[in-house]
Amino acid sequence: MSNIEITKKILTARFDVINHDSIDEYISHNGYTALKKAMATTGEKIISEVKTAGLKGRGGAGFPTGLKMESVLQAEGLPKYIICNADEGEPGNFKDRYLMEKDPHQLIEGIIICAYAANINHGYIFIRGEYINAINIMDKALEQARVNGYLGDNILDSGFNFDMEIYTGAGSYICGEEFALLVTIEGKQGRATYKPPFPTTCGLYNKPTQINNVETFCNIPHIINMGGEEFSKIGTDSSKGTKLVCLSGNIVNPGLYEVELGTSIRDIIDKLGKGVPNNRAIKMVQLGGASGPVIPENMLDIKLDSKEMSKIDLTYGSGAIIVMDDRIDILDILKRIIEFFHHESCGKCTPCREGLTQMLILLDRFIDGVATSDDLAILEILMETMNQASICGLGQAAPTATQKVLEYFREEFTSKIRSTDSNVV
Ligand SMILES: Cc1cc2nc3c(=O)[nH]c(=O)nc-3n(C[C@H](O)[C@H](O)[C@H](O)COP(=O)(O)O)c2cc1C
Ligand code: SF4
Repeated sequence: MSNIEITKKILTARFDVINHDSIDEYISHNGYTALKKAMATTGEKIISEVKTAGLKGRGGAGFPTGLKMESVLQAEGLPKYIICNADEGEPGNFKDRYLMEKDPHQLIEGIIICAYAANINHGYIFIRGEYINAINIMDKALEQARVNGYLGDNILDSGFNFDMEIYTGAGSYICGEEFALLVTIEGKQGRATYKPPFPTTCGLYNKPTQINNVETFCNIPHIINMGGEEFSKIGTDSSKGTKLVCLSGNIVNPGLYEVELGTSIRDIIDKLGKGVPNNRAIKMVQLGGASGPVIPENMLDIKLDSKEMSKIDLTYGSGAIIVMDDRIDILDILKRIIEFFHHESCGKCTPCREGLTQMLILLDRFIDGVATSDDLAILEILMETMNQASICGLGQAAPTATQKVLEYFREEFTSKIRSTDSNVV
C-alpha cells in the first residue's frame, strides 16, 4: 500500500482550472488524449487495462468495472448499449452533479472509450431531472464533441461510429436502480426486477448494456493515460484510485472532496471538513447516504477500504459522509430515513412495500414510549426479511441504518421500551 494522500486530485484536477463550457480548454489540458490512445488499440486491451487498474464501480455496489465491460463485449446480441447513470437520487450525494458541471468532457471521453472497447454505437446519459444546470452543460458539451469529431460517424477517422443522448429522470429515486432506469428509457414505469439476468446480457430492449455511474466513467481516461498498473498503485490493495466524498451535516466545511482510497473517515471530517461547529461531539456518522450504515464516533478511524470495512459489515457506498453531532435524536433520524424509502418504494414486492409501512408503525411505538420487547424482536425479524426477500437494493438496504443503530446504539431503542415490560432484550 502506498502512503495515502488525503487530498489527491485526479478527477477534480481540472475543476475551476478550465472553463467547463470550452472543449478547447479541455483539449489543452490533456483532454481526449486517452481516447486517441485507446483508439490506437483494441477493446480487449482497454478492458485489460481497466481490470489491471482494479477500478470498482462508484455508484454504490462496487462491482469491478473491467469485468462488467468484458461481459458486455462478450455478450451476444446487437445492438449493444451504454448508459451513464447520473440519476444521483441518494440523499447526501452531489458528486456526480459536480463532475458533470465542472468537467463534462471528462465524462464524455470516459463513456466513448468504454463504447469503443465493447463496440457499442449508441448511448444514453440518464440525468436526474432536477439537475437543470448539469443537463444544459452536458447537452452543450455533447454538441461540441460532435462538432470536433469525437462523437458521430467515423470518430477520429477510426471507422467507429458512436453517439449518445441525454435522458432526464422524473424525480423518482428508484429510477437510479439499473433495471428501473432501463425500463424508464423504454418508456415504461420505473420498477426494479429480479436478477439475473443482468443488464450486461439482457439490458435495454433486452440487449447487452453497460451501465455505470458518472464517477466510474470519469476514471476511465485516467486509467488509459496512466496505464492500469500505475493507476493500481493509488489507494489500497482492495480499493484502488481516489473517491469523491460528499461531506455534509454538522460540519464546518461541508462540500465535495477527492481523497485517495484508504483515507480514514476521521481525517476527512477533521482535516478537510475542519470538524464540527462549536467543537461539539460527534454522535453518529452515516456513510454512503440514506441507504448506508451509521457508525459511532469511536469508529471514525475506519478507512475507506472495502476489505477493512466489509469485515465489520460496512461499506462506503457512493461516498456520502453525513456528520451528526450530539444534539440529534437518533430515532427521529431513523423515522425520516424510513419515511423517505416508504415514499420512494415502487410497491412491486411485499417485503419492501409492507415492511416499510410496518417499520414506521414500530418506530412510532418506540418514539411514543409504548413499545414492548416483542416490538423490538419483531422489528429485527422484519428488517432481516426485508434484507433477504426484497427484489431490489431499495428494500434490501432501507433497514441498514436502523440495523446499525441497533448494533452500535442499542440503548436508543431499549431505553424506550415501556417500563412495565420485563423482557428487555
Ligand atoms: C434504489 C437504488 C437507487 C440507485 N441509484 C443510483 C444512482 O442514482 N446512481 C448510480 O450510479 N447508481 C445507483 N444505483 C446503483 C445502480 O443500480 C448500479 O449498480 C450502478 O449504476 C452501477 O454503476 P457502477 O458499477 O459504476 O457503480 C442505485 C441502486 C438502487 C438499488
Ligand atoms: S424492493 Fe421496493 S423498490 Fe425494489 S422492487 Fe421491491 S417494492 Fe420496488
